[in-house]
Amino acid sequence: MLNGAIAREIQVSIQYMWQHVQWIGVKGFATKDAFEDIAKQEMKHAESIAERLFYLGEIPTTKPEPINVGKNLKEMVTQDVKDEKNAIEMYKEIIQIAQKEGDTTTAFLFMEILKQEEDHHDTFTTLLEQI
Ligand SMILES: [Fe+2]
Ligand SMILES: [Fe+2]
Repeated sequence: MLNGAIAREIQVSIQYMWQHVQWIGVKGFATKDAFEDIAKQEMKHAESIAERLFYLGEIPTTKPEPINVGKNLKEMVTQDVKDEKNAIEMYKEIIQIAQKEGDTTTAFLFMEILKQEEDHHDTFTTLLEQI
């Protein structure tokens, strides 16, 4: 599950950064910084989860989940809202399992990350309303 989380963190970090590069139009101007900021946070999530997984004795994956940049701003942000929603569901499950197994550190790590994913979801949902 931690490698699944890493794969999606790498995916969205590239996805958002390329959306930052490919933004167009006036509305794109308003979203370009959000794409970049969130992309960097996702890369840090990948790093933190990889550190935890390596500590637990496993090798972190280098392969992202399929990246979906989108052809226009609406396509981009619609995809991003979906990806954040998936992250929130997946991380809640990881927290539950970690708590059940007494792995407090992993549970705490994912609580911190979950807080940021909820922020990202909120940001993309707000942006989507304005497109
Ligand atoms: Fe993330
Ligand atoms: Fe996120």
